[in-house]
Amino acid sequence: MIFEVAHPISEIIEPEELLMSVDPNAHGYHLPVLLREVIEHLAPGPGKVMVDCTLGGGGHSEALLESGARVIGIDQDPDALAHAGQRLSSYGEMFTAVQASFHEIEDVLRSLGVDRVDGILADLGVSSYQLDTASRGFSFQRDGALDMRMSPSNPVTAATLVNTAAEEELARIFRDFGDEPASRRVAARIVRERVVTPFSHTLQLAETVASVIPKKSRIHPATRIFQALRIAVNREYEVLDAGLEAFTRVAAPGARVGLIAFHSGEDRRVKHYFKERAQEFTDRPEWPSPRPNPLYQYRLITSRPVIAGELEQRANPRSRSAKLRVAERLPKN
Ligand SMILES: C[S@@+](CC[C@H](N)C(=O)[O-])C[C@H]1O[C@@H](n2cnc3c(N)ncnc32)[C@H](O)[C@@H]1O
Repeated sequence: MIFEVAHPISEIIEPEELLMSVDPNAHGYHLPVLLREVIEHLAPGPGKVMVDCTLGGGGHSEALLESGARVIGIDQDPDALAHAGQRLSSYGEMFTAVQASFHEIEDVLRSLGVDRVDGILADLGVSSYQLDTASRGFSFQRDGALDMRMSPSNPVTAATLVNTAAEEELARIFRDFGDEPASRRVAARIVRERVVTPFSHTLQLAETVASVIPKKSRIHPATRIFQALRIAVNREYEVLDAGLEAFTRVAAPGARVGLIAFHSGEDRRVKHYFKERAQEFTDRPEWPSPRPNPLYQYRLITSRPVIAGELEQRANPRSRSAKLRVAERLPKN
C-alpha cells in the first residue's frame, strides 16, 4: 500500500523551532518518544531522504518532514499506514508510506527508485494504539483475541504458539525473550491447561500466568510472558538483526542511523552491532601493525544511549525505558 500526494518544501529551521509545529500526539494514536533528540541526532534537512522504518502514528515522520526532508515511512501494520498516511497527507510527494517490514528496506527503496538514503530511524516495538486496542491482543489488561501480530500477513498468532509449541520451546521463548525466571513452570502450566481448554483470549492467559507467578510488585506477573510472546510472534530479534544489516547497505556515506529500543534484549543487539562496526582495528591501535577491522562501517554519534529527560518521563511513562543509539555511516566498506 503506497500513499503519495501533493508537495510543500519547508525552509531550514532549527530542531526546537520545527518541533513547535509538530503536534506530538495528534489524534491520540501514539506519543513519539525522544522527538527532539531524534531530530538533533539524525540531522534531517532539505534535500535529504530519510526513512522512518516504524511509522506508527507518524509523529517522528512529521518532525522529519518539517525539517524539509523527503520521508519514506514503513510500517507492517496497515492501521498505522492508514492513520499516518492521512495525518501526513498535506506533505504531498515529500511523504511516501509503504507497507513492509523494515528488514525489506532494500525492496521498498528499489520499488521507489531510491538507492541510497541520508537517514534511517527505527523506533522499535509496538505503538500505544496497538497496545491499547484490545482486539490486537497485545495487552494483558484488556481482554481480546490472543493475537499479537503486527502484520496481518503473519500466519502465526500468539494463540497458535501457546496452543501448539512444545513445552521446551515455550520455556525457551519465555526465558530468552522475556528473561522470565519462572519460564519452565509457566510453560508446564500452559501445556497442562491447553489440553483441557485451548487458549484463545489475553485475560485467560494472563490469569494462568498469574496463578503460577505470585504478584510481588506493581508490575503485573504476565508482563514478561506477554513481551516474550510478542517478540516470538513477530520474530522481532531476527528482523532487527536483518534490518541492521540492510540499513548498513542502503545508508549513504554520512547517513545517520538511529534506533530506539525499549528493553535490554533489543538494546543489547543495537549496541553490539554498532560497537563492532565502529572499531577501526581488530587489535589495539597502539600495536605495531594493528589489523584493520573489515567491518569498520560506522562512527558512533552517541557513545552512550540517549534517554528521555525528566519532563518527558513524567509526561510519557513509556519514554522511561527508551534508549536511542545513533551512528553515522562511513564511506568505506
Ligand atoms: C513504537 S511504534 C512507532 C511510533 C512512531 N515512531 C510514532 O512517532 O508514532 C512502532 C511501530 O513500528 C511498527 N513496526 C514494528 N516492527 C516493525 C517492522 N519490523 N517493520 C515495520 N514496522 C514495524 C509497528 O507496527 C508500530 O506501528
